[in-house]
Amino acid sequence: MKTIDLRSDTVTLPTQTMREAIYHAELGDDVFGEDPTTNRLEKIAAERMGKEAALMVASGTMGNLVCLLSHCRRGEEVILGDQSHTFLYEAGGISAVGGIHPHTIANQPDGTMRLEDIEAAIRGSNLHFPRSRLICLENTHNRCNGSALTPKYMESVAKLARERGLRIHLDGARVFNAAAALGVDVKELIRYADSVSFCLSKGLSSPVGSIICGSNDFIAEARRNRKVLGGGMRQSGIIASAGIEALENMVDRLAEDHENAHRLAEGIARIPGLSIELNRIQTNIIYFDMANDQFTAETLVKQLSGRAVKVLQVGPERLRAVTHYGISAEDIDLALAAMSEVMASS
Ligand SMILES: Cc1ncc(COP(=O)(O)O)c(C=O)c1O
Repeated sequence: MKTIDLRSDTVTLPTQTMREAIYHAELGDDVFGEDPTTNRLEKIAAERMGKEAALMVASGTMGNLVCLLSHCRRGEEVILGDQSHTFLYEAGGISAVGGIHPHTIANQPDGTMRLEDIEAAIRGSNLHFPRSRLICLENTHNRCNGSALTPKYMESVAKLARERGLRIHLDGARVFNAAAALGVDVKELIRYADSVSFCLSKGLSSPVGSIICGSNDFIAEARRNRKVLGGGMRQSGIIASAGIEALENMVDRLAEDHENAHRLAEGIARIPGLSIELNRIQTNIIYFDMANDQFTAETLVKQLSGRAVKVLQVGPERLRAVTHYGISAEDIDLALAAMSEVMASS
Protein backbone atom coordinates (compact mmCIF):
# COMPACT_ATOMS: atom_id res chain seq x y z
CA MET A 1 0.00 0.00 0.00
CA LYS A 2 1.31 3.48 -0.89
CA THR A 3 2.11 5.64 2.13
CA ILE A 4 0.59 9.11 1.83
CA ASP A 5 3.33 11.12 3.49
CA LEU A 6 2.17 14.63 4.34
CA ARG A 7 4.77 15.39 7.01
CA SER A 8 6.81 17.70 4.79
CA ASP A 9 7.62 18.57 1.18
CA THR A 10 11.20 17.49 1.96
CA VAL A 11 10.11 13.86 1.48
CA THR A 12 9.74 14.41 -2.29
CA LEU A 13 11.84 12.09 -4.41
CA PRO A 14 13.69 13.13 -7.60
CA THR A 15 11.74 12.76 -10.83
CA GLN A 16 12.80 10.36 -13.58
CA THR A 17 14.15 13.27 -15.66
CA MET A 18 16.19 14.44 -12.68
CA ARG A 19 17.67 10.99 -12.28
CA GLU A 20 18.61 10.99 -15.96
CA ALA A 21 20.07 14.50 -15.71
CA ILE A 22 22.14 13.36 -12.71
CA TYR A 23 23.41 10.36 -14.67
CA HIS A 24 24.45 12.45 -17.67
CA ALA A 25 25.75 15.52 -15.76
CA GLU A 26 28.93 17.10 -17.07
CA LEU A 27 31.30 17.37 -14.09
CA GLY A 28 34.42 19.14 -12.83
CA ASP A 29 35.89 20.41 -9.55
CA ASP A 30 33.59 23.14 -8.26
CA VAL A 31 36.07 24.39 -5.63
CA PHE A 32 38.26 25.29 -8.64
CA GLY A 33 35.13 26.82 -10.23
CA GLU A 34 35.28 24.13 -12.91
CA ASP A 35 32.03 22.22 -12.56
CA PRO A 36 30.12 23.28 -15.71
CA THR A 37 26.76 22.03 -14.42
CA THR A 38 27.02 23.88 -11.10
CA ASN A 39 28.14 27.02 -12.95
CA ARG A 40 25.12 26.69 -15.23
CA LEU A 41 22.68 26.23 -12.34
CA GLU A 42 24.11 29.26 -10.51
CA LYS A 43 23.76 31.38 -13.67
CA ILE A 44 20.17 30.24 -14.26
CA ALA A 45 19.27 30.86 -10.60
CA ALA A 46 20.77 34.36 -10.49
CA GLU A 47 18.88 35.32 -13.66
CA ARG A 48 15.65 33.83 -12.35
CA MET A 49 15.95 35.78 -9.09
CA GLY A 50 17.11 39.01 -10.71
CA LYS A 51 20.38 39.11 -8.74
CA GLU A 52 23.98 39.42 -9.95
CA ALA A 53 25.21 36.07 -8.68
CA ALA A 54 24.22 32.79 -7.02
CA LEU A 55 25.87 30.00 -5.05
CA MET A 56 24.71 26.45 -4.48
CA VAL A 57 24.87 25.17 -0.90
CA ALA A 58 24.03 21.86 0.72
CA SER A 59 20.80 22.85 2.50
CA GLY A 60 18.45 25.65 3.46
CA THR A 61 20.04 25.74 6.91
CA MET A 62 23.48 26.17 5.38
CA GLY A 63 22.12 28.81 3.01
CA ASN A 64 20.76 30.93 5.85
CA LEU A 65 23.91 30.47 7.94
CA VAL A 66 26.25 31.36 5.07
CA CYS A 67 24.17 34.47 4.32
CA LEU A 68 24.06 35.63 7.93
CA LEU A 69 27.81 35.03 8.34
CA SER A 70 28.33 37.12 5.21
CA HIS A 71 26.21 40.02 6.50
CA CYS A 72 27.13 40.14 10.20
CA ARG A 73 30.31 40.14 12.27
CA ARG A 74 30.53 38.54 15.72
CA GLY A 75 28.47 40.45 18.28
CA GLU A 76 26.29 42.12 15.66
CA GLU A 77 22.57 41.72 15.80
CA VAL A 78 19.97 40.22 13.48
CA ILE A 79 16.29 41.07 13.93
CA LEU A 80 14.11 38.06 13.15
CA GLY A 81 10.71 36.57 13.93
CA ASP A 82 10.18 34.47 17.06
CA GLN A 83 8.53 31.84 14.83
CA SER A 84 11.20 31.94 12.13
CA HIS A 85 12.90 28.77 10.99
CA THR A 86 16.32 30.32 11.54
CA PHE A 87 15.53 31.10 15.17
CA LEU A 88 13.69 27.87 15.99
CA TYR A 89 15.09 25.09 13.87
CA GLU A 90 18.64 25.77 12.74
CA ALA A 91 20.36 24.49 15.88
CA GLY A 92 21.34 27.99 17.00
CA GLY A 93 23.98 27.98 14.25
CA ILE A 94 24.08 31.76 13.85
CA SER A 95 25.13 32.10 17.51
CA ALA A 96 27.20 28.93 17.77
CA VAL A 97 29.19 29.49 14.60
CA GLY A 98 28.83 33.19 13.85
CA GLY A 99 28.56 34.82 17.28
CA ILE A 100 25.55 36.64 15.83
CA HIS A 101 23.09 37.98 18.38
CA PRO A 102 19.44 37.11 17.59
CA HIS A 103 16.89 39.79 18.49
CA THR A 104 13.48 38.18 18.14
CA ILE A 105 10.21 40.00 17.72
CA ALA A 106 6.72 38.55 17.42
CA ASN A 107 5.62 37.01 14.15
CA GLN A 108 1.98 37.72 13.39
CA PRO A 109 -0.18 34.75 12.25
CA ASP A 110 0.39 35.86 8.63
CA GLY A 111 4.17 35.59 9.01
CA THR A 112 4.82 39.33 9.06
CA MET A 113 6.51 41.27 11.85
CA ARG A 114 4.88 44.63 12.60
CA LEU A 115 6.88 47.53 11.21
CA GLU A 116 6.65 49.35 14.53
CA ASP A 117 8.07 46.28 16.30
CA ILE A 118 10.96 46.11 13.84
CA GLU A 119 11.61 49.81 14.22
CA ALA A 120 11.57 49.55 18.03
CA ALA A 121 14.05 46.66 17.84
CA ILE A 122 16.66 48.63 15.87
CA ARG A 123 19.35 49.76 18.31
CA GLY A 124 20.53 53.31 18.64
CA SER A 125 24.23 54.05 18.80
CA ASN A 126 25.20 53.38 22.38
CA LEU A 127 28.24 51.49 23.48
CA HIS A 128 26.14 49.14 25.61
CA PHE A 129 24.18 47.81 22.66
CA PRO A 130 25.03 45.27 20.00
CA ARG A 131 24.99 46.80 16.50
CA SER A 132 21.80 46.08 14.53
CA ARG A 133 22.93 44.86 11.11
CA LEU A 134 20.25 42.74 9.47
CA ILE A 135 16.53 41.98 9.28
CA CYS A 136 15.49 38.43 8.33
CA LEU A 137 12.16 37.69 6.70
CA GLU A 138 10.74 34.27 5.78
CA ASN A 139 8.56 33.72 2.69
CA THR A 140 6.53 31.56 2.69
CA HIS A 141 6.45 31.43 6.47
CA ASN A 142 6.59 27.82 7.57
CA ARG A 143 5.36 28.11 11.20
CA CYS A 144 2.88 30.87 10.34
CA ASN A 145 0.53 28.78 8.24
CA GLY A 146 2.71 28.72 5.13
CA SER A 147 1.71 32.36 4.58
CA ALA A 148 3.01 34.38 1.65
CA LEU A 149 4.43 37.84 2.41
CA THR A 150 3.37 40.32 -0.28
CA PRO A 151 5.72 42.50 -2.35
CA LYS A 152 4.08 45.51 -0.68
CA TYR A 153 5.02 44.27 2.78
CA MET A 154 8.55 43.40 1.66
CA GLU A 155 8.89 46.88 0.20
CA SER A 156 7.79 48.53 3.44
CA VAL A 157 10.38 46.57 5.46
CA ALA A 158 13.04 47.40 2.85
CA LYS A 159 12.23 51.10 3.11
CA LEU A 160 12.66 50.98 6.89
CA ALA A 161 15.88 48.96 6.55
CA ARG A 162 17.33 51.46 4.06
CA GLU A 163 16.44 54.43 6.24
CA ARG A 164 18.17 52.82 9.24
CA GLY A 165 21.18 51.43 7.34
CA LEU A 166 20.26 47.75 7.78
CA ARG A 167 20.23 44.95 5.23
CA ILE A 168 17.57 42.34 4.52
CA HIS A 169 18.00 38.58 4.19
CA LEU A 170 15.08 36.55 2.93
CA ASP A 171 14.72 32.91 3.97
CA GLY A 172 12.90 31.99 0.80
CA ALA A 173 13.03 28.23 1.29
CA ARG A 174 9.61 28.14 -0.41
CA VAL A 175 9.67 31.48 -2.20
CA PHE A 176 8.36 29.93 -5.42
CA ASN A 177 5.28 28.80 -3.48
CA ALA A 178 4.82 32.40 -2.33
CA ALA A 179 5.12 33.69 -5.90
CA ALA A 180 2.63 31.08 -7.16
CA ALA A 181 0.12 31.87 -4.40
CA LEU A 182 0.35 35.63 -4.98
CA GLY A 183 0.42 35.33 -8.78
CA VAL A 184 3.60 37.44 -9.05
CA ASP A 185 7.00 36.90 -10.62
CA VAL A 186 9.42 35.63 -7.98
CA LYS A 187 11.67 38.63 -8.74
CA GLU A 188 9.00 40.88 -7.21
CA LEU A 189 9.54 39.13 -3.88
CA ILE A 190 13.32 39.09 -4.07
CA ARG A 191 14.08 42.61 -5.22
CA TYR A 192 13.73 44.09 -1.73
CA ALA A 193 16.17 41.62 -0.19
CA ASP A 194 19.97 41.98 -0.25
CA SER A 195 20.26 38.21 -0.10
CA VAL A 196 17.92 35.28 -0.50
CA SER A 197 18.20 31.55 0.10
CA PHE A 198 15.77 29.13 -1.51
CA CYS A 199 15.50 25.35 -1.47
CA LEU A 200 15.68 23.00 -4.42
CA SER A 201 14.93 20.01 -2.22
CA LYS A 202 11.44 20.83 -0.95
CA GLY A 203 8.47 21.30 -3.31
CA LEU A 204 10.86 21.44 -6.27
CA SER A 205 11.80 17.79 -5.59
CA SER A 206 15.58 17.86 -5.95
CA PRO A 207 17.30 15.35 -3.71
CA VAL A 208 19.74 17.87 -2.17
CA GLY A 209 20.58 21.54 -2.32
CA SER A 210 19.68 25.17 -1.89
CA ILE A 211 20.74 28.35 -3.65
CA ILE A 212 21.70 31.72 -2.28
CA CYS A 213 21.63 34.86 -4.42
CA GLY A 214 22.90 38.40 -4.01
CA SER A 215 25.39 40.89 -5.45
CA ASN A 216 28.73 39.72 -6.91
CA ASP A 217 30.57 40.97 -3.80
CA PHE A 218 28.10 39.31 -1.45
CA ILE A 219 28.36 35.96 -3.22
CA ALA A 220 32.19 36.15 -3.23
CA GLU A 221 32.06 36.56 0.57
CA ALA A 222 29.42 33.81 0.82
CA ARG A 223 31.63 31.43 -1.20
CA ARG A 224 34.38 31.97 1.34
CA ASN A 225 32.00 31.39 4.27
CA ARG A 226 30.63 28.25 2.63
CA LYS A 227 34.24 26.99 2.52
CA VAL A 228 34.66 27.82 6.22
CA LEU A 229 31.69 25.55 6.96
CA GLY A 230 33.19 22.72 4.91
CA GLY A 231 30.60 23.27 2.22
CA GLY A 232 32.94 23.54 -0.77
CA MET A 233 31.92 20.58 -2.89
CA ARG A 234 33.84 18.96 -5.74
CA GLN A 235 31.80 17.26 -8.53
CA SER A 236 28.71 19.09 -7.33
CA GLY A 237 27.14 18.92 -10.79
CA ILE A 238 25.62 15.64 -9.56
CA ILE A 239 23.37 17.79 -7.37
CA ALA A 240 23.20 20.83 -9.63
CA SER A 241 21.88 18.80 -12.59
CA ALA A 242 18.77 17.94 -10.56
CA GLY A 243 18.55 21.58 -9.48
CA ILE A 244 18.40 22.75 -13.11
CA GLU A 245 15.56 20.33 -13.75
CA ALA A 246 13.85 21.62 -10.61
CA LEU A 247 14.02 25.24 -11.72
CA GLU A 248 13.07 24.55 -15.30
CA ASN A 249 10.31 22.01 -14.85
CA MET A 250 8.99 21.89 -11.28
CA VAL A 251 8.04 25.48 -10.51
CA ASP A 252 4.90 25.74 -12.61
CA ARG A 253 3.28 22.73 -10.95
CA LEU A 254 3.37 24.19 -7.40
CA ALA A 255 -0.14 25.60 -7.88
CA GLU A 256 -1.37 21.99 -7.95
CA ASP A 257 0.05 21.47 -4.42
CA HIS A 258 -1.80 24.58 -3.27
CA GLU A 259 -5.07 23.26 -4.70
CA ASN A 260 -4.51 19.97 -2.89
CA ALA A 261 -3.77 21.83 0.37
CA HIS A 262 -7.11 23.65 0.04
CA ARG A 263 -8.86 20.36 -0.70
CA LEU A 264 -7.29 18.81 2.40
CA ALA A 265 -8.10 21.80 4.59
CA GLU A 266 -11.72 21.91 3.46
CA GLY A 267 -12.05 18.18 4.16
CA ILE A 268 -10.52 18.57 7.64
CA ALA A 269 -12.96 21.39 8.41
CA ARG A 270 -15.81 18.89 7.83
CA ILE A 271 -14.42 16.24 10.24
CA PRO A 272 -15.94 16.41 13.75
CA GLY A 273 -13.21 16.68 16.39
CA LEU A 274 -10.72 18.54 14.16
CA SER A 275 -10.50 22.28 13.74
CA ILE A 276 -8.76 24.43 11.17
CA GLU A 277 -8.64 28.12 10.25
CA LEU A 278 -9.55 27.85 6.58
CA ASN A 279 -8.92 31.51 5.84
CA ARG A 280 -5.22 31.04 6.68
CA ILE A 281 -4.52 28.46 3.95
CA GLN A 282 -2.55 30.04 1.11
CA THR A 283 0.12 27.60 -0.03
CA ASN A 284 1.10 23.97 0.54
CA ILE A 285 1.38 24.02 4.35
CA ILE A 286 -1.61 23.60 6.63
CA TYR A 287 -1.89 23.45 10.40
CA PHE A 288 -4.88 22.02 12.22
CA ASP A 289 -5.86 21.25 15.80
CA MET A 290 -7.55 18.57 17.85
CA ALA A 291 -10.92 19.76 19.11
CA ASN A 292 -11.76 16.55 20.91
CA ASP A 293 -11.09 15.66 24.55
CA GLN A 294 -10.68 11.94 23.84
CA PHE A 295 -7.78 12.22 21.42
CA THR A 296 -4.38 13.92 21.49
CA ALA A 297 -2.45 14.85 18.36
CA GLU A 298 -0.02 12.03 19.19
CA THR A 299 -2.83 9.44 19.12
CA LEU A 300 -4.09 10.74 15.79
CA VAL A 301 -0.59 10.56 14.28
CA LYS A 302 -0.18 6.97 15.49
CA GLN A 303 -3.59 5.85 14.28
CA LEU A 304 -3.14 7.48 10.89
CA SER A 305 0.27 5.94 10.51
CA GLY A 306 -1.37 2.52 10.93
CA ARG A 307 -3.52 3.49 7.92
CA ALA A 308 -0.48 4.54 5.81
CA VAL A 309 -1.08 8.28 6.25
CA LYS A 310 1.62 10.42 7.84
CA VAL A 311 1.16 13.90 9.30
CA LEU A 312 3.45 15.79 11.67
CA GLN A 313 2.68 16.52 15.31
CA VAL A 314 3.88 20.03 16.18
CA GLY A 315 2.27 20.47 19.61
CA PRO A 316 0.14 18.50 22.10
CA GLU A 317 -3.00 19.39 20.11
CA ARG A 318 -1.52 20.71 16.88
CA LEU A 319 -0.62 19.00 13.61
CA ARG A 320 0.88 19.96 10.26
CA ALA A 321 0.29 18.55 6.80
CA VAL A 322 2.17 19.57 3.66
CA THR A 323 1.21 18.79 0.07
CA HIS A 324 3.84 18.19 -2.58
CA TYR A 325 4.91 16.45 -5.78
CA GLY A 326 3.78 12.81 -5.62
CA ILE A 327 0.57 13.61 -3.71
CA SER A 328 -2.53 13.64 -5.90
CA ALA A 329 -6.09 14.83 -5.25
CA GLU A 330 -7.01 11.15 -4.90
CA ASP A 331 -4.37 10.74 -2.17
CA ILE A 332 -5.88 13.70 -0.35
CA ASP A 333 -9.29 12.03 -0.45
CA LEU A 334 -7.79 8.80 0.90
CA ALA A 335 -6.04 10.73 3.70
CA LEU A 336 -9.31 12.47 4.57
CA ALA A 337 -11.17 9.16 4.63
CA ALA A 338 -8.54 7.78 7.06
CA MET A 339 -8.86 10.88 9.27
CA SER A 340 -12.65 10.61 9.35
CA GLU A 341 -12.44 6.92 10.24
CA VAL A 342 -9.99 7.52 13.09
CA MET A 343 -11.92 10.47 14.48
CA ALA A 344 -15.21 8.56 14.29
CA SER A 345 -13.64 5.83 16.47
CA SER A 346 -12.66 8.29 19.21
C1 LIG B 1 11.44 28.21 6.06
C2 LIG B 1 12.57 27.23 6.09
N1 LIG B 1 13.82 27.68 6.03
C3 LIG B 1 14.88 26.85 6.05
C4 LIG B 1 14.70 25.49 6.10
C5 LIG B 1 15.91 24.59 6.17
O1 LIG B 1 16.08 23.78 5.07
P1 LIG B 1 16.96 22.44 5.18
O2 LIG B 1 16.09 21.42 5.81
O3 LIG B 1 17.30 22.16 3.74
O4 LIG B 1 18.17 22.75 5.98
C6 LIG B 1 13.40 24.97 6.15
C7 LIG B 1 13.20 23.51 6.22
O5 LIG B 1 12.11 23.00 6.34
C8 LIG B 1 12.31 25.87 6.15
O6 LIG B 1 11.04 25.44 6.24
